[in-house]
Amino acid sequence: MIFKQLFEEVSCSYTYLLACSVTREAVLIDPVLDTFERDLNLLAELNLSLRYSLETHLHADHLTSASALKTRLGSKIAAPALEKLRCVDIGMREGEVLQIGSVLIHPLHTPGHTANHHAYMVDNGTQLMVFSGDALLIDGCGRTDLATGDAQSLYNSVWEKIFSLPDETLIYPGHDYEQRHVSSVAQEKQRNPRLGKSEAEFLEIMQNFKSPPPLQMAKAIPANLSCGKLGNENLKTAISI
Ligand SMILES: [Fe+2]
Repeated sequence: MIFKQLFEEVSCSYTYLLACSVTREAVLIDPVLDTFERDLNLLAELNLSLRYSLETHLHADHLTSASALKTRLGSKIAAPALEKLRCVDIGMREGEVLQIGSVLIHPLHTPGHTANHHAYMVDNGTQLMVFSGDALLIDGCGRTDLATGDAQSLYNSVWEKIFSLPDETLIYPGHDYEQRHVSSVAQEKQRNPRLGKSEAEFLEIMQNFKSPPPLQMAKAIPANLSCGKLGNENLKTAISI
């Protein structure tokens, strides 16, 4: 399997490129519009054909490049089916595998940061990798105070769906703000200052969490409801929020 971790510095977002080394088919998990050209160049350099873009959730802090990739490369847009977005080609559901050559992607419904959030698990042949989106970050987790967020659901999701995996499972988060790249189930269980605590402590921490909304939220949410297309309709909504 070909694997690259890519970073977008304005929203500190990670995009992940996974590809089958035999068929040269690829998927981009959580691609960002600001780094669209970089991702196109990388796919060309590696001689890969993009089959899918794949969203973990409806992002509030950046615009997805899913629509732009589809227009340019003909890739299909995959995202959680529960979002019921008309722009999505493949609805991801827990229990249904997305296959790209020899790469098998297993969706895990992990509500809490958003109600329809999914993490994705891949077995690279020697280790399990979880692309945890904003459910579980390194020494942290996504906020639960926006729109469909819910702290109790996030605690249950992480403990039932991610911390139940083998200790050596690698965790690749949706964001990092301190240039960290990867963690593991064992490390997060031991030292995550939020999710490594008891349920009651976690709920108290998240209840006391205060932070302004993401800078790009007014533009990102309406655009991402159309898989990153910022058409006239979305512009009107974005301006009125
Ligand atoms: Fe998020």
